[in-house]
Amino acid sequence: MDKKPLIIANWKMNLLLNEEVGLAKQFAVKLERFAEKAEVVVCPTHLGLIEVSKILKPTKLILGAQDMAWGENWALTGGVSAGMLKDAGARYCIVGHSERRRNLGETDDMVNKKALSAISHGLTPIICVGESLDERQAGKKEVKVISQLKAALKNIKGDQPTVISYEPIWAIGTGIPAEPSEVALMVELIHQTLVDLFPLDLIMKNFRIIYGGSIDSGNIGDFLKLRYVVGGLVGTASLNLEEFTKLVQVTKLSK
Ligand code: 13P
Repeated sequence: MDKKPLIIANWKMNLLLNEEVGLAKQFAVKLERFAEKAEVVVCPTHLGLIEVSKILKPTKLILGAQDMAWGENWALTGGVSAGMLKDAGARYCIVGHSERRRNLGETDDMVNKKALSAISHGLTPIICVGESLDERQAGKKEVKVISQLKAALKNIKGDQPTVISYEPIWAIGTGIPAEPSEVALMVELIHQTLVDLFPLDLIMKNFRIIYGGSIDSGNIGDFLKLRYVVGGLVGTASLNLEEFTKLVQVTKLSK
């Protein structure tokens, strides 16, 4: 398993196709030289996957998807399966992002089905977990994250690459990241939960834990210094070429 720092650009629903193509082309030019030191994954919309795949293919940058459906060849209107994402050139897929859990009612069970389906097709799932502000204020963040994680990992053997992204909901898109000290406690808890579920050698080999929530070039280094944090899931800052380039550059130097 590649233990380079992992930086994932999640463009969410922000760009039209020509804008995704334009930004991907600029990423290919600017970020390729850092790709020996950092693994950079770009997640466009489903509509952008094919075109962005063509742009990234000759580079060391990697294609990821923002979401997927589970199963294959069944009557799910609007669904895009893991097999389809693989076919389009994706190697990673985000599952269980809080924006989908909150706005679309995605459940732990659905996230688990997606993660299992991703793994069975050779896609690496990026499983998102994280508490809301209310849960944090009520002292329930640990319980919440452990239960999300255990549910998402149900029936997963741990023998395939899997990424866990700790993304406290209150830190997403706010410009106010979690304090590194708080992230340190939560990722330790996530690591400990993995230890409860899988043999240590499989954890070391296959699992990576990253942080997400208002990451920028000024704070990524603080998160990468933390034990257990090996990368970041980046929203807003990944839409800005200069800022994201700086962020990847800092990453290369930080871990
Ligand atoms: P921001 O970087 O905009 O806070 O978004 C984080 C996120 O949700 C990444 O998936």
